[in-house]
Amino acid sequence: MRRSLPLVIDIALTTDCMGRMDQDKFYQKGEVFWDRGGPSPPMKQYLARHAVRGRALVPGRGRGHEVALAVEHGLNATGLDIAPTGVAEARALYPHLAERFVTGSLFDPPEEMRGVYDVVLEHTCMSALPPAMRADYRRGIDLTLRRGGLADRGVVHRAGA
Ligand SMILES: C[S@@+](CC[C@H](N)C(=O)[O-])C[C@H]1O[C@@H](n2cnc3c(N)ncnc32)[C@H](O)[C@@H]1O
Repeated sequence: MRRSLPLVIDIALTTDCMGRMDQDKFYQKGEVFWDRGGPSPPMKQYLARHAVRGRALVPGRGRGHEVALAVEHGLNATGLDIAPTGVAEARALYPHLAERFVTGSLFDPPEEMRGVYDVVLEHTCMSALPPAMRADYRRGIDLTLRRGGLADRGVVHRAGA
């Protein structure tokens, strides 16, 4: 019974902060409970198995581990995150990739990030959103992908993809 408690806390905190778009407070307080200190195993497995190429967007990039992994795999990756403190932490962790970490919202992506990505790779960005925000998320993905681009959350393929 007690083992399910962390999951309940995750959902409650994330939903609350996402609803108010105040994700930065987690970084400010050092309460980044989702951070594994490195790229997520499913993303590592995905990139090891799939030869994705070109420009990659990592929305909800957090501390930048998935961007670093994508670059290692030869992708021209950019990470977009709404939390400015998270961007600063990503730049401190991966100074050689500093220019790849952008502050902004996937829901209203910067002009230069629209319609240019071959692939979107992400880990726990959409899944952390309250259901009411998932249409905005989907719209953001559609805005940033180039025509014919691929959205993949690193773990789950869209039906038919
Ligand atoms: C659960 S964390 C995942 C972070 C990272 N992908 C990881 O797995 O370590 C979700 C991230 O999404 C970011 N986020 C939330 N809403 C966003 C939005 N509208 N646009 C961009 N990033 C957003 C948060 O700031 C947070 O860093």
